[in-house]
Amino acid sequence: MIHFYHVTKKFDRYSTALHDVTFHIEKGEFIFLTGASGAGKSTLLKLILRQMEPSEGQIVVNGRNLNAMKRSQLPLFRRDIGMVFQDFKLIERMTVFENLSFILTVLNVSPKEHKKKAYGVLRAVNLQHKLNAYPLQLSGGEQQRVAIARALINDPLILVGDEPTGNLDPDLSAEILQIFADANLRGSTVVLATHDRELIRNSGRRVMTLDHGRIIDEKVAVPERPASRDTLFGFASS
Ligand SMILES: Nc1ncnc2c1ncn2[C@@H]1O[C@H](COP(=O)(O)OP(=O)(O)OP(=O)(O)O)[C@@H](O)[C@H]1O
Ligand SMILES: [Mg+2]
Repeated sequence: MIHFYHVTKKFDRYSTALHDVTFHIEKGEFIFLTGASGAGKSTLLKLILRQMEPSEGQIVVNGRNLNAMKRSQLPLFRRDIGMVFQDFKLIERMTVFENLSFILTVLNVSPKEHKKKAYGVLRAVNLQHKLNAYPLQLSGGEQQRVAIARALINDPLILVGDEPTGNLDPDLSAEILQIFADANLRGSTVVLATHDRELIRNSGRRVMTLDHGRIIDEKVAVPERPASRDTLFGFASS
């Protein structure tokens, strides 16, 4: 679904955000992207969204070669991708419904379907009762859930999150993560950049770690199991 082949991104002579990065994310996967501040996570996500272009290398997303994509093809390409950022921006003078409806208009969805789609995604994030509230009447966590609803509204093939739990407490972070997991179960391929080790730990997901623009580690965060009887008694050597 997402393929990077020897991708390098330089901003200028002194700043190389990604160095020769190659990886593949399969359809239906849920992958965490982690690494210290400045490691290149946001840059990598922006390349997937084609918000910027690589200096070297090839990127293929959803079967399309991004290097060869024309500007006129971008809106169609982005219809299939949902994105959630830490500094999610809801439009304050619009209600929750109007915020969602606005995106549907941008995505060229017929107005007849707006109510049904908006209601569907709000149910997914458990906020169906806030349809007519304004963003400032919602808590930070609720606003973030509306932002996620907005990203989910067109059943995206790919869902990208850049620190989507950045300002939230652990309980809310777990709740947000669950919404991403549900979207993944419904078929979206999920790429989530986060510093939050608690979210990643025990997740059972693939974790890609960046350091100074290079992938330094790729493994699955295996859930910790309590030691079984056999290991406790030292029998399990196989
Ligand atoms: N537009 C830009 N112009 C110049 N340099 C940039 C630009 N965007 C990012 N960089 C540099 O590229 C490197 C990677 O930045 P990036 O934002 O991808 O890191 P990150 O892993 O997302 O960090 P954080 O966890 O702080 O969000 C950093 O050294 C950053 O200073
Ligand atoms: Mg970042």
